[in-house]
Amino acid sequence: MPLLANHIAVITGAGSGIGRAIATGYAREGAQVVLYDIDGGAAAETANAIRAAGGKAESFVLDVTNRDACFAAARQVADKIGQVSILVNNAGITRRNAFTAEKDTVAKDWQDIIALNLNGVFNMTQAFLDPLRAAKGRIVNIGSIQSFVHLRTPSSAAYTTSKHGVLGFTKALAAELGKEGVRVNAIGPGFIETNINAKVRATNPALVQAFIDHTPLGRTGKADDIVGPAIFLASDMSAYVTGSIVMVDGGYRTV
Ligand SMILES: NC(=O)c1ccc[n+]([C@@H]2O[C@H](COP(=O)([O-])OP(=O)(O)OC[C@H]3O[C@@H](n4cnc5c(N)ncnc54)[C@H](O)[C@@H]3O)[C@@H](O)[C@H]2O)c1
Repeated sequence: MPLLANHIAVITGAGSGIGRAIATGYAREGAQVVLYDIDGGAAAETANAIRAAGGKAESFVLDVTNRDACFAAARQVADKIGQVSILVNNAGITRRNAFTAEKDTVAKDWQDIIALNLNGVFNMTQAFLDPLRAAKGRIVNIGSIQSFVHLRTPSSAAYTTSKHGVLGFTKALAAELGKEGVRVNAIGPGFIETNINAKVRATNPALVQAFIDHTPLGRTGKADDIVGPAIFLASDMSAYVTGSIVMVDGGYRTV
């Protein structure tokens, strides 16, 4: 029996990178997947590929920074698809301006990053809370190495703050919802080759090499490296796991 049979899983940012890989992996394990992305065309591509492989997928355009839109999406899924039992809060962005850069630029980075990486997680979790409670569901939040540290390679304080917040939110909800059987965990990816870092990979090989040199497994990650841990945290294999973060970083944080 596939590990996620009879589950309906919502995945944000499913048009690219880690979200697309998780959606594809969940569908392969028997989940019906509901894909959201601000880029509706990209989410539709993921859904088409899943359906072509025999899986069940629907895709919708959604900006998770828009709270009302998140609630409307949850109502639409409840009416037309069914009871969501897995939520993956994956959509996120980063910027690489130092805090000492031009002040309006840094303020814009702060607003945009917190709005998506932190408030987006809040919006989707609150919007889908009722079905997740009813289903004794599972929430998987995508954190980062930066849920623990600020990288010396250029990165914004806002991103580090947002990913610390994602881990704090994960622990708070795990504590509040555990008695109801809802499990809440996070994944902490290291340097995973996706669109989020395409520019830096193309223009700054020294930065990528610095990551690799610091990583015990001696390589960058691929989006597929996240899939196994994401299936584990959504499935009954992790029935006694909540409030945790599974680092998928090649050992980066151990050094
Ligand atoms: N790639 C890495 O090295 C890495 C490392 C640690 C954490 N992460 C985290 O993983 C998550 C996924 O990132 P990725 O690497 O796959 O990046 P990505 O850029 O490939 O994918 C992000 C997706 O989110 C979507 N998105 C952006 N704004 C949105 C919004 N307002 N509403 C809905 N969707 C929106 C984008 O359209 C895109 O499809 C992010 O939370 C990121 O912070 C990535």
